[in-house]
Amino acid sequence: MQIDLLLSQLAREPLGIHAAEDPLRADRNEKLLRLVNAFRERFPAQDVFMVRAPGRVNLIGEHTDYNGYPVMPMAINKEIWVCASRNDKPVIDLANLDDDFPPRQFPVDSADIRPYAQGDWGNYTKAAVVGLLPLLGKQGKSPKGFSAVYAGNIPAAAGLSSSSALVVTAALTFLHANDMSLALEELAELLARAERYVGTEGGGMDQAISLLGRDNHALKIDFFPLRGQPVPMPADHEIVVCNSLIRAPKTERAMNDYNRRPVECRIAAALIAAQIKNQLNIDIRANRLADVDADNLAIDKQNYDRIVGQALTPAVLSMQEVAERLSLSTQEVTQNYLTLKSGKVFQPPDDGFKVAARYRHVLSEAARVEQAARALHQGDVAGFATLMNASHQSCRNDYEISTTELDTLVEIARAHHALGARLTGAGFGGCTVNLVHKEKVASFIDGVTQDYYSDYLRTTHPEIRFNIKDREQFIFASPAVQGAEIVVR
Ligand code: GLA
Repeated sequence: MQIDLLLSQLAREPLGIHAAEDPLRADRNEKLLRLVNAFRERFPAQDVFMVRAPGRVNLIGEHTDYNGYPVMPMAINKEIWVCASRNDKPVIDLANLDDDFPPRQFPVDSADIRPYAQGDWGNYTKAAVVGLLPLLGKQGKSPKGFSAVYAGNIPAAAGLSSSSALVVTAALTFLHANDMSLALEELAELLARAERYVGTEGGGMDQAISLLGRDNHALKIDFFPLRGQPVPMPADHEIVVCNSLIRAPKTERAMNDYNRRPVECRIAAALIAAQIKNQLNIDIRANRLADVDADNLAIDKQNYDRIVGQALTPAVLSMQEVAERLSLSTQEVTQNYLTLKSGKVFQPPDDGFKVAARYRHVLSEAARVEQAARALHQGDVAGFATLMNASHQSCRNDYEISTTELDTLVEIARAHHALGARLTGAGFGGCTVNLVHKEKVASFIDGVTQDYYSDYLRTTHPEIRFNIKDREQFIFASPAVQGAEIVVR
């Protein structure tokens, strides 16, 4: 669209996302006007398009995705917007309304697009481009770049998938600039692999929900192959997100803490496969826990449980013990299980690989996702809430991804009538997700603001700066919204 036309349209009426009641429309529009104006000041192009991608909150199914088990997130009304235009030259030129993210420029016709320093925002665009270039190659196209200005309101390092929303916007922008499109499921799968460029061994949830989100629905997502099934959200309850304000940037320690879990699960899967081979002489290529699931193997349940029990005893194993169990050298274990997709090698944890507890969490959490989807389909809100609470306990005790602050926030939330409260996302900081009756949302927000932010956090973390006046940024109710799209062509 011509940029002047777009500006006059934005001045007249808000560009909506689809959720029926969206209290943020006016705010958003003001920001979009600033975004398009910033584009005009920076780039000469007259013909622009706009892309948006939402963040997400995971309702249940934590750390199940990379194990081949389902998740159930919803897209939220915090999002990233891009105003962009095609470049004739194969160069990508990025700017951001937020000064924390300085301009970036890189060529897209190079065979080897190297990442910027760890944590650089430009890496998420590079991840998408590196993931998509082979597709262009296959079609014999030489890549076109784009110029773009970004704006957003998904807090970074808060477990709301700001990084995946960035990858998704970059991908849609790059595809549009090159006159290409892809089925959303296919794109989600491709981007899940592509985001590993930044060094995290993530699963496919975040990119998938940002692309496939549905108004007023959560999505039960299955993987390998990726499929999404809409699950209706209860009309008389709301989802309230509370940010613990403890940052969990996936570039620092939290990345290592995160990556440890997929490594431990891969080892658990290999140990189970080895035990099955030993006892039943069945060969399984076990890349993830779902590959050794009882339902996928023709083994009776009792026998299966006994085999798993033997495979994962002792519950914690050293590197040496893992090697012995798998009849491998420690170098081979490192190569097969500790080498990340980014090529980096994960260092074995000092306290050993906690295979039994990790397995317990993943299998019980996978079952909770199925039960939760059934509960929501049947309108059983109390049943869904109970599962959310059980999930938090399992995340805390068996997967060890909670923190004192998240546990405190969950307890306070329950005291203020959250029916279900749990940490959401990777853990180690970030947010909780809470199921609250519509009539109690206002008092819930006031109560948690007082008890957690004003009392608890100010005392325990005086160094964390926040302003209660801006609390909408860290404690907010969100409807389930529609996934990413090219809003203006
Ligand atoms: C991060 C990852 C996801 C998923 C969650 C935990 O958000 O990117 O793929 O593993 O953690 O459920």
